[in-house]
Amino acid sequence: MCGIVGYVGKRDCSEVLLDALSKLEYRGYDSAGIAIHTDGEIKTCKAKGRLANLEEKLRLSGGIKGHCGIGHTRWATHGEPSDINSHPHGNATVTIVHNGIIENYKAIKTRLEGKGYVFQSQTDTETVAKLLDYYYKGDPIEAIRRTESKIEGSYALGIIFKDFPNTIFALRKDSPLIAAVGEDECFIASDVPAILNYTKNYYLLEAGELAILKDGKVSFKNLDGEDITKEMLVADWDMESAMKGNYEHFMLKEIHEQPNSITTTITPRIVDGMPNLEECGMTEELLRNYKNIFVVACGTAMHAGLVGKYVIEKIGRIPVTVDVASEFRYRNPILTKGDLVILVSQSGETADTLEALRLSKRNGASTLAIVNVKGSSIAREADFVLYTHAGPEIAVASTKAYMVQLAVMYLFAFELAHAKGTLSTEECKRLTGELCNIPNLVESILKQKDNCQYVASQLVNSENLLYIGRGLDYALSMEGSLKLKEISYIHSESYAAGELKHGTISLVTELMPVIAVATQRELFDKTVSNVKEVKARGAKTFVVTHSYINVDSDVADYKIGIPTTDDLLMPMLAVVPLQLIAYYTSVLRGNDVDKPRNLAKSVTVE
Ligand code: F6R
Repeated sequence: MCGIVGYVGKRDCSEVLLDALSKLEYRGYDSAGIAIHTDGEIKTCKAKGRLANLEEKLRLSGGIKGHCGIGHTRWATHGEPSDINSHPHGNATVTIVHNGIIENYKAIKTRLEGKGYVFQSQTDTETVAKLLDYYYKGDPIEAIRRTESKIEGSYALGIIFKDFPNTIFALRKDSPLIAAVGEDECFIASDVPAILNYTKNYYLLEAGELAILKDGKVSFKNLDGEDITKEMLVADWDMESAMKGNYEHFMLKEIHEQPNSITTTITPRIVDGMPNLEECGMTEELLRNYKNIFVVACGTAMHAGLVGKYVIEKIGRIPVTVDVASEFRYRNPILTKGDLVILVSQSGETADTLEALRLSKRNGASTLAIVNVKGSSIAREADFVLYTHAGPEIAVASTKAYMVQLAVMYLFAFELAHAKGTLSTEECKRLTGELCNIPNLVESILKQKDNCQYVASQLVNSENLLYIGRGLDYALSMEGSLKLKEISYIHSESYAAGELKHGTISLVTELMPVIAVATQRELFDKTVSNVKEVKARGAKTFVVTHSYINVDSDVADYKIGIPTTDDLLMPMLAVVPLQLIAYYTSVLRGNDVDKPRNLAKSVTVE
């Protein structure tokens, strides 16, 4: 959510900033801007719309030459997307880029207006720029410290002062920020992919830390102005993994990366055919003793939690409550010491999930993070961490991250059930073996994309759609439905198949296609009855089920067959056609698949 970058070194700053911003555009893409020290002043260029608009504007104006500057790609929170509201914000003295939200900006603005400041934009960020200007009396660090003491909310800030033409200052609270070092050059960025073209060495800023980037070096201070030392990290993602390669879209690439992501995620956690999560400190003894489990997350990650609930409860016989993080935070959940709260997040920075984690800890529960981004806030603050090794996920619509969240959920459920004695060693080994074979089966599904393309061609003109399923199929339908609506803009809902006739079936006509997921064999006949009910009311029906199962034409207008594994693991297979259907529908509708409207990846505001 908003991407910030900064560069100081020998290269053409404008080129580096634009390149780095292009790697962060998934974080927000309604406007972009850069500010660069040039000829003793700070020059700024900003443009509404995609980064390409900024590039064009720079080209037409002859560009900005210089070696030190900051850049921003925006997801609007305060004020519509426009040139004026785009970052950077500032004046001839100090200019900033900001990711996050300044909660008390109105009070600061009123105060500064009283001192004669005139505001141009509707943003909260401009108040920080003006406050810095107000406090700046020649000492940038003092100005930053005083400003920091007055602002409330979440922020990552990149700051340049006219009087310090070769220095970038960067400050973090809550919103993610890294400072990176190459050969005689330094960078700041909201996320690692931005710097991979130049270096893999970076530092993670923590709340209240200030970075000063100058002469190819980064130094750090705390807010008392004291020097601090930080551990340098080395990115284990390579540039290729953050590039589209030969794929038309990141989403398609990431769907194809799933077999490899699963293998990388599960292999180190299987010992002698059994799941082993000891790497994160989760011993069998701990697992045995949890009284209640909560899974808290947002969006797709929450859907992975729903699958987890079905699996953990079924084989581990322990109650699992799944919550949307933004609800969990404010519903005063009943948490006690023997409870485990699992936070699931690709980015590890989602504001509501992070706050849910903090709330859980305050209430004495144990916390386990299932996170993709190394060193992210959720990973750092949780008691236990299991990383999903999906590599960078760039498409806004999450696919491979969901897949590996499922993979970790399964390993966790198997180990917990085994520890509790509700799953025999033999059965645990069998299920783990089935899990190990999932990458091959996903690979085989990816080879038959024509059926998903066909379904997409049948959906492309629809305005509404229903996904139905029972049990694990219902949990999965929610993800299928979300994927479709977020990138195709077709309204869709997922429904428990048996619940349909309690109201929602009144919506079903020949204009309402229905995708039924029917992989749970003990529920198959019941789901089929529900499919017949919607077909009898004119709906066109598409059924996702095992290849070997015949589905009569009075049930399905079209069947999507997938290979068979244990029913418990079927969501890992059935999700693939649902992802592909969403993808191809979006492509057919001419949408920007990787950057759907109004969305951004990594939601760091609540
Ligand atoms: C949908 C999607 C979102 C995220 C959600 C949580 O495709 O990507 O629903 O799953 O914003 O994000 P993370 O996993 O980063 O916490």
